[in-house]
Amino acid sequence: MKKILVTGANGQLGSELKKLSKNEQFDFVFTDVAELDITDIRECMAFFDKIKPHFVINCAAYTAVDKAESDKLLAWKVNVDAVKNLVISSSISDSYLIQISTDYVFDGKSSTPYVERDLTHPQSEYGRSKAVAEVEALSYPKSLVIRTSWLYSTFGNNFVKTMLRLGKERESLNVVFDQIGTPTYAEDLAAAILRIIGKIASKEKDFVAGIFHYSNEGVCSWYDFACAIMKLGCLNCKVYPIETADYPTPAKRPEFAVLNKTKIKSVYGIDISHWRSSLERMIDSLNQTETTE
Ligand SMILES: NC(=O)c1ccc[n+]([C@@H]2O[C@H](COP(=O)([O-])OP(=O)(O)OC[C@H]3O[C@@H](n4cnc5c(N)ncnc54)[C@H](OP(=O)(O)O)[C@@H]3O)[C@@H](O)[C@H]2O)c1
Repeated sequence: MKKILVTGANGQLGSELKKLSKNEQFDFVFTDVAELDITDIRECMAFFDKIKPHFVINCAAYTAVDKAESDKLLAWKVNVDAVKNLVISSSISDSYLIQISTDYVFDGKSSTPYVERDLTHPQSEYGRSKAVAEVEALSYPKSLVIRTSWLYSTFGNNFVKTMLRLGKERESLNVVFDQIGTPTYAEDLAAAILRIIGKIASKEKDFVAGIFHYSNEGVCSWYDFACAIMKLGCLNCKVYPIETADYPTPAKRPEFAVLNKTKIKSVYGIDISHWRSSLERMIDSLNQTETTE
């Protein structure tokens, strides 16, 4: 049975992979920093030597975008140095490496959805570290970089869960309407990654290295997203659109970060749901968890 090593498995994407792994014909090894600190090269090499994974999905990252502006050292250690460690370890065990990246590698000045070959020009420390990590990962011929955007899940903390909480606590909220992108349900991304691995492992598809974009389908602003969350969450909280200038944050975000997904659909035959139907599924899933608890 093919072995899949998942790093950063307690995060949003890692937890979704864990949930889906129960229906998969692979031998999974889930690790987070307690089991495998990917910033430690010796630990990585010893772990890979013991496990000998066929596939590695790196879900570990420093994802606190604003905090990364002042905590650069740690952000770069986790997002860049650790990826170098995974490249070295993967090359020794001849594993395929799947590195997850972000729309924040772009400056957001485009007016059409970004394709994989577009030049990166990150505007934040997080974005810069993830862009360098892409280069590191791609130095290894058996690597795939999957860029995603606006990730949310029933696990961990994210925009959807924050809006649902604030929607219960407040009568109104201000949300920016001048940053455009696409939300991504981490369960969908996890399913897409496992589908790609399944196709490579079964030889249904040849392995194609490089960068691939994956988010849900459609486009919205954070304001539109918040309105949809309130509606699907049956909350009466009024959402008001505001400009980014009225909501200053330490890290600059891209204004337009829509990803073009044509490549992943054509190369690996991946179907993608619209963000609104995925959001509906996520909120249903949250409600089910709440009623069974
Ligand atoms: N979240 C988004 O909106 C978003 C958008 C686009 C792309 N992405 C990318 O998607 C990927 C998955 O994101 P996510 O939201 O699932 O991340 P997440 O929820 O923040 O999970 C990351 C996990 O990595 C762990 N980790 C941190 N340092 C580690 C280390 N040295 N060794 C091993 N594990 C370590 C974290 O542990 P601690 O919590 O203890 O630090 C956490 O469990 C990341 O590459 C991220 O950059 C995320």
